[in-house]
Amino acid sequence: MTSPTVALTERFQQALGKAFGDEYADADPVIRPSQFADLQANAAMALAKRLGSKPRDVAARIVEALDVDDVVEAPEVTGPGFVNLRVRPEWVASQVEQLGTRLGVPEQPRQVVPLDYSAPNVAKEMHVAHLRTTVVGDALARTLEHLGHEVVRQNHVGDWGTPFGMLIEHLLDVGRDSEEAHDLEASPNRFYQAARAKFDGDETFAARARQRVVTLQAGDPDTLALWGELIELSKAYFNRIYRLLDVTLTDDDLAGESIYNDALAGICDELEAAGIATVSEGALCVFLEGHTGREGKPVPLIIRKSDGGYGYATTDLATIRHRVEDLRADRVLYVVGAPQALHFQMVWETARLAGWLPDGVEVVHVKIGNVLGPDGKILRTRSGDPIRLMSLLEEAVERAEGVVAESRPDLDAETRSHIAWQVGIGAVKYADLSVSHDSEYTFDFERMLSLQGNTGPYLQYAAARIRSILRKAAEAGHSAGPLVVGEEAERALGLALLGFGDVVAAVGDTLEPHRLCGYLFDLAQAFTAFYEHCPVLKVDDDAVRASRLTLCTRTLDVLVAGLDLLGIQTPDQM
Ligand code: ARG
Repeated sequence: MTSPTVALTERFQQALGKAFGDEYADADPVIRPSQFADLQANAAMALAKRLGSKPRDVAARIVEALDVDDVVEAPEVTGPGFVNLRVRPEWVASQVEQLGTRLGVPEQPRQVVPLDYSAPNVAKEMHVAHLRTTVVGDALARTLEHLGHEVVRQNHVGDWGTPFGMLIEHLLDVGRDSEEAHDLEASPNRFYQAARAKFDGDETFAARARQRVVTLQAGDPDTLALWGELIELSKAYFNRIYRLLDVTLTDDDLAGESIYNDALAGICDELEAAGIATVSEGALCVFLEGHTGREGKPVPLIIRKSDGGYGYATTDLATIRHRVEDLRADRVLYVVGAPQALHFQMVWETARLAGWLPDGVEVVHVKIGNVLGPDGKILRTRSGDPIRLMSLLEEAVERAEGVVAESRPDLDAETRSHIAWQVGIGAVKYADLSVSHDSEYTFDFERMLSLQGNTGPYLQYAAARIRSILRKAAEAGHSAGPLVVGEEAERALGLALLGFGDVVAAVGDTLEPHRLCGYLFDLAQAFTAFYEHCPVLKVDDDAVRASRLTLCTRTLDVLVAGLDLLGIQTPDQM
């Protein structure tokens, strides 16, 4: 199966070669969906400049050389030199028939892609920003894997650093089996805040905490064992969130800051020896060109503090090196909050200078925008505390429970609560995914759970409705058959189906899952239009019914596959 864009691009390039010579045969004809036709080619503008003629004339010559009669109806030159293209129903039918199990999604040459996402901090509550990197990262992981890549999930949890001194001392004070210690699994902020309060208010505790950091960093076995307990309790908390969220992260994907400890001294030594890092006011710093703060003062990347401690930047230098040298990455992705952009720029620039990040390896910061509350500020509870992610997710499921109770009072309680989980979590994920990942969005339960508009539940409902049509067809003994595209709504739906592979590939390239959301929403709307105009179960003609059942089946396949790439389940019934 070929998508219309791919098929037509090829034909246009043949025509360009034929009309203007071989050196033009690799020009991009820029074929895009258009509101005036199915597709519009915008080849003539760029070429006209190269050829020194008028775009409209160039367009006319292209059309003359085009051999596309089997794919589109007569191409039409419009405006300053666009070519409008309307795909033939027979071609649509033949390509939909050939969709196959991959539904048109290409199998790309395999790349190794370390993917850094989620990355919450030990002994701290995951907040909505972590929710979004988790959800976006997981959708990218699924999509890239489906495109044929080897995704190496790297959950870069914050499991090291100065706070661990106070956390360990607090754990010792309260006792490992205490209720407070178990807060780490349920509501880690309480534990963290209690430790913090003691640290700020109690000088002897603070001194113990500082001493503890030293013994931790020196690798004292007892201290490491205590640290390990903190990690275990936090892992239990993360995993509860991950299972509730239905994301693919497991303990095997943990690659926290602590695993880079042994590399940090060497990183500093090498950078210093190479003259890339220099000591300034007692700290080892990298000064990079173009990074200046107020009054033109250079802003350094500090890799060893004046007290000898290493920080977040040093760890990220070791991290990129590990991903390039040990994991043999082709492409390294960081799904992390947008405010960390400067940090990554400086880390990568330093790594490039050191030769740890060769030009052939692509690094991308997939910037995650803020999640806002109804007041337009970063989402918080009314008392101003960060929202507990667990209660947020539980509320989503609870509210979905209400939606399902209303729409399906006939189902038993267990089935209903399973559907409510699928719908509630799907709604939260879709809200995160459907806006471009770097823009802010307002967290709004009403909107995300609505069965109308570009929402998760709307798409889940569309899939469930098709399932119900197919069930009824099966009960009546009707089966799907060869596709004959007669009605315009059938042609439009078929054409929409053919766009799936292109959009999945585009998500892999651009790392923008919202494109897939937009596509699925359009597809669901094309299905609705089709279903309104083209009766399926009630049509008399057996061949037409069979053909329409094929369209239903293929639409369901694409909806389910697309939502699955986003990490969203589709309930059997809703
Ligand atoms: N733990 C960090 C945070 O909560 C995110 C880590 C992102 N990954 C990285 N390689 N720095 O902000």
